Amino acid sequence: MIELIDVTKEYGKSGVRAVDQLTMKVEKGELFGFIGPNGAGKTTTIKMLTGILIPTSGTVLLDGVDIVRDPINAKKMIGFVPDGADLFDRLTGLEYLNFMADIYGVSAEQRKQKMDEYLQLFELTDAVGNRIASYSKGMRQKLATIGALLHDPTIWIMDEPMMGLDPKAAFLLKEEMKRQCAQGKTVFFSTHVLDVAEKLCTRIAMINHGKLVAEGTLEELKSAEHAANLEQIFLELTETEGAEEE
Ligand SMILES: Nc1ncnc2c1ncn2[C@@H]1O[C@H](COP(=O)(O)OP(=O)(O)OP(=O)(O)O)[C@@H](O)[C@H]1O
Ligand SMILES: [Mg+2]
Repeated sequence: MIELIDVTKEYGKSGVRAVDQLTMKVEKGELFGFIGPNGAGKTTTIKMLTGILIPTSGTVLLDGVDIVRDPINAKKMIGFVPDGADLFDRLTGLEYLNFMADIYGVSAEQRKQKMDEYLQLFELTDAVGNRIASYSKGMRQKLATIGALLHDPTIWIMDEPMMGLDPKAAFLLKEEMKRQCAQGKTVFFSTHVLDVAEKLCTRIAMINHGKLVAEGTLEELKSAEHAANLEQIFLELTETEGAEEE
């Protein structure tokens, strides 16, 4: 479970709020989509969920554990795939995966089983001995995904995970996300691909200028906004100020 309570993040001295009093809850077994325009505060929120950034105020709980007060225990639960998959170029894929497994204290048996399974699934077995520097964007994204799953996290958080993936890899990722949810894990991801959010998610939240502007199942959002689809909801709720009220 992920719980954000009144979470705010201000960057720099200007005090501009990238995230503004965000409160939301994602239950176990949910596949939760986080959408919003560029600069809305999605990555900032995700960095606070994963303990990379400390909130200016508010609380983040992961299965009840406060990520600021008890970061080690909170981080153990998380598998995190950042945006852009900026990995260590000098390592081979295998060295990277072993590095990740070491950090999370994954047993030899489990790392072999998970690596075999996911390398095969994402068709990376042949390339895993090569340096990451030689990998394509999609291959890096897949490697980062595998690295995040080796310790069998109960909370899987991804920032724009479909970026750079070909249609088959995106399909495989979506299937894996569903599988993890079916096992009772919590899956949270940001995306600009509204089609994916619409088809895949049990619930969706939308932020704009750091504030939560909508949250619910697709059906709830559609009926609340009197809209036919997520694209229409997105366009309506992110309309520039001044133009929204007549
Ligand atoms: N390190 C930083 N210092 C100052 N301002 C920042 C910093 N990082 C982000 N911001 C600002 O915070 C706001 C939210 O940025 P964030 O990266 O969270 O948006 P996002 O929703 O992830 O956008 P995108 O869809 O483009 O990835 C933006 O206005 C951005 O300019
Ligand atoms: Mg972002």
